[in-house]
Amino acid sequence: MSSNIDSVLKEKRRFEPPAEFIKQARMGPEQAAELRAGAAKDPQAYWADLARRELSWAKEFTEVLDSSAAPHYRWFRDGQLNVSANCLDRHVETQPDKTALVAINDDGTTRRLSYRDLHAKVATFANVLKRLKIAKGDRVVIYMPMIAEAIIAMQACARIGAIHSVVFGGFSARSLYDRIVDAKAKVVVTANFSIRGGKSIPLKAVVDEALGLGETPITDVVVYRRSDAEAPFDAARDRWWHELEEQAAGDAPCPAEPMDAEDTLFILYTSGSTGKPKGIQHSTAGFLLGTVAGMRNVFDIKDDDVFWCTADVGWVTGHTFICYGPLAIGATQVIFEGVPTHPGPSRFWEIIAEHKVSIFYTAPTAIRSLIKLGKELPAQHDLSSLRLLGTVGEPINPEAWMWYHEQVGQARCPIVDTWWQTETGSPMIAPMPSSVAAKPGSCTLPLPGIDAAIIDEQGEEVPQGQGGILALRQPWPSMLRTLWGDDDRFVKTYFPEDIAGGRYYITGDSAMKDEDGYVWIMGRIDDVLNVSGHRLGTMEIESALVAHPDVAEAAVVARPDELTGEAVVAFVVLQGDRPAGGEARDARTDELRKWVGKEIGSLAKPAEIRYGDNLPKTRSGKIMRRLLRTIARGEQITQDTSTLENPAILEQLADGG
Ligand code: PRX
Repeated sequence: MSSNIDSVLKEKRRFEPPAEFIKQARMGPEQAAELRAGAAKDPQAYWADLARRELSWAKEFTEVLDSSAAPHYRWFRDGQLNVSANCLDRHVETQPDKTALVAINDDGTTRRLSYRDLHAKVATFANVLKRLKIAKGDRVVIYMPMIAEAIIAMQACARIGAIHSVVFGGFSARSLYDRIVDAKAKVVVTANFSIRGGKSIPLKAVVDEALGLGETPITDVVVYRRSDAEAPFDAARDRWWHELEEQAAGDAPCPAEPMDAEDTLFILYTSGSTGKPKGIQHSTAGFLLGTVAGMRNVFDIKDDDVFWCTADVGWVTGHTFICYGPLAIGATQVIFEGVPTHPGPSRFWEIIAEHKVSIFYTAPTAIRSLIKLGKELPAQHDLSSLRLLGTVGEPINPEAWMWYHEQVGQARCPIVDTWWQTETGSPMIAPMPSSVAAKPGSCTLPLPGIDAAIIDEQGEEVPQGQGGILALRQPWPSMLRTLWGDDDRFVKTYFPEDIAGGRYYITGDSAMKDEDGYVWIMGRIDDVLNVSGHRLGTMEIESALVAHPDVAEAAVVARPDELTGEAVVAFVVLQGDRPAGGEARDARTDELRKWVGKEIGSLAKPAEIRYGDNLPKTRSGKIMRRLLRTIARGEQITQDTSTLENPAILEQLADGG
């Protein structure tokens, strides 16, 4: 693999932190600069100070970082704490009546849980788990809708030191079975149904199917009654959540078990866009500290904020910024069971207006679909409560960024574009909003304590303006500790010998730093295209396409070409309908090719453009370019498509779009 990647980036817009934001920010520019300078000088002291200030320890740590078994780094090793005690117990003492969760159901009914309420529910459910013979270190699989009980179950595991493995509620029986078996889980927590967009999705039936696929170590299935509709129930194995709660009601309140800093808090399987799922294993104290650093440094969270992260608890974003971060710092947050389109296309804007959301965090894929639902819709709602916006999950196309900035943030709210991964546990590259100007499409600067560099195979930094391998050169507290049951793969994947001799954490992304040191993510290294000897990231060509007023979404991949080595094939979703075949399509293709030629240069012009109503995506909204590559080559798809959100789209695209 050659690490040189050409950048054809032309984006020059720059947005200073709005004065209005700085005036009311929790962390002002001077304080941010001080923090950054201190962390640069002594990263370990920075993390230790944050850990002492922000976390409540059952036993203080004396050692900050142990690198003796690198790349197995250990943080705060001789310290002890409990994550659930940090998220709940300490706030019950100081602010018991503050709303912790505003849980909005699909049909609009809303439950408010105070810190006192949530604490009581978690303590009871922790007793339920104990009664099911779940002990410290045991694995519990959570397969739940986006309701408060998902968080209650996760927090209850943390309270007794059980390791949760949340499986996204959209995953199939096969995926669920594989994850149960790999983690050797003893209990599954689920709901009879999940309700989204007015439809009932039979979660429990999927659990039954999964458990029927083969032997598993599961002894009990706990079922939350989300709907009165009937679901299959096996009296020998299945238990109703509410009945277990009643039985445990008289138990002494479940104390929070002091855990070693390095004990495992959870496993989260990530399939990414390639390969067999990896069980990303996170630690207790380091992970918690990462969530708090994110809440403070990136989201500038204050006591009166209403925070809303639209992710699902099935993804890392839902772990870091729903289940743990907001609760760890005692915030009020919205969680939402439904979808943006039900009962109408303004659902998100209505929620923001009604609940006075002040910090809104979502993914570029959601932003693009919100644009498609109605560019003009946000302006019809009172979004004046918003003060900060965020994105995560993929590079945001500058044009989508501009819409978010102007239409949703009304040019008043900074946008924090947060780069991180399931593996990193918390944001690594993102602006501190009062002190870092934004550039649309860039996740800006590494956060305090994070050493992100763009390197070549030898580990040398590539010149400014040139693309290369994005690496993290220093360990950080919320980094993954290993892959569950596969430590060998952990070392080979993230600290590969052939890049910088295995010294650095390799992210798998390609990126570029500009003249201000801003990081521009170019795509996954595996997706890089090679046209006439020029290596191009996917991101820049896709952004150019999306900048065309009629294009809603785009993905580009390479197919072999006799003349140029590889040729660019683009898959495009238009704002309106797909062009009818023949001339209309040819005219459209011609126009878009010229557009890319003008935006980037002839080099990047797609040799072929296919049109679809959508693109093949993982259930977390990531485009599966490896499937598009197969289609672009005209080959039959033989890869596993079970993690795909919308399998039918493959046929449409293979037919020529
Ligand atoms: O390629 C990067 C992209 O998403 C990958 C991590 O995916 P996952 O583990 O599912 O975690 C997503 C939520 C943290 C990264 O390797 N990615 C994530 N955030 C950004 C991004 N690419 C560009 N800009 C971002 N802000």
